[in-house]
Amino acid sequence: MELNAILADLGSEAAKRTFLLACKFCFERRNHPWYDARLTDNYEIGRRFVAAVRPERLADFEAAFRVFEVDPGFRTQYRPGFLSQDEFGALEKAVATLESAKFETTERERHGRFKIRNSPRFEAIARKLRPWVEGIVDEPLELSFTLFSRYDGSGKLPPHLDSPDSKWSLGICLASPRPWPIHVSRPIAWPPEPLPDGTPLDAVAADPSLEFGEVLLSPNDAVLFSGNAQWHYRDAAPDFGAAHFDILYLMYVRRGSKPLTRPAEWADFFGMPELEQLHRAFELKAQGRMAGSRQ
Ligand SMILES: [Fe+2]
Repeated sequence: MELNAILADLGSEAAKRTFLLACKFCFERRNHPWYDARLTDNYEIGRRFVAAVRPERLADFEAAFRVFEVDPGFRTQYRPGFLSQDEFGALEKAVATLESAKFETTERERHGRFKIRNSPRFEAIARKLRPWVEGIVDEPLELSFTLFSRYDGSGKLPPHLDSPDSKWSLGICLASPRPWPIHVSRPIAWPPEPLPDGTPLDAVAADPSLEFGEVLLSPNDAVLFSGNAQWHYRDAAPDFGAAHFDILYLMYVRRGSKPLTRPAEWADFFGMPELEQLHRAFELKAQGRMAGSRQ
């Protein structure tokens, strides 16, 4: 919906003022200049917005999002030969039946990958593996989403933190024509601090205090880490020829926290109707219809 249509739809002057205030916060500079930071940005915008319109609820808002914090003692888990032969064979078959027409190509240029989010083919294995992940991370979980990624030889993934809907990322390698490690840091505090102005993302990869570790996955090897609280990156991929590197990510969040990963549900979740106006502003921004939008 266009800005003028939204304003006309809002009716009351109070609702319009709240919406325009939400837009003002959305206009402000991004805090987190890395890939997949939109939800993290939205949380920070949400904090500023709630502080302005419902300051008495700010503590509730912040406390709810603490579910995305990760124990600093957590360490990346690497499991070679993760699934049984039968399970892995079924997964390979599921991948073979993916229709290339359904692959998203929006990250073809930027990351050299094609992806499919939430294919029903991966729901059963995601459900089956949830208790295993719960046992490792010691909290009750629900599936957030599944992501199958296929990289060609132009693959690369600069240092980034995922949005909190990827709190726990279980990656299972399905094909790896040549070794191509992922580098994963120790856990950091969430929400992440904005990077100082002008900090190149390569500086993150070079920071020894982040204790990056290299994980090399062959088919049927798995890695479990916190997507939103552990920096991760892949250097430029080696030449895969006509082949490709395939990985399935199963993303889990604390049970009951999924509405927090969907700004459209914040108003109901918090019982704050004002957050509906913030969601409208996010939508407008995401549509790129707001001057200055960078999303
Ligand atoms: Fe990521």
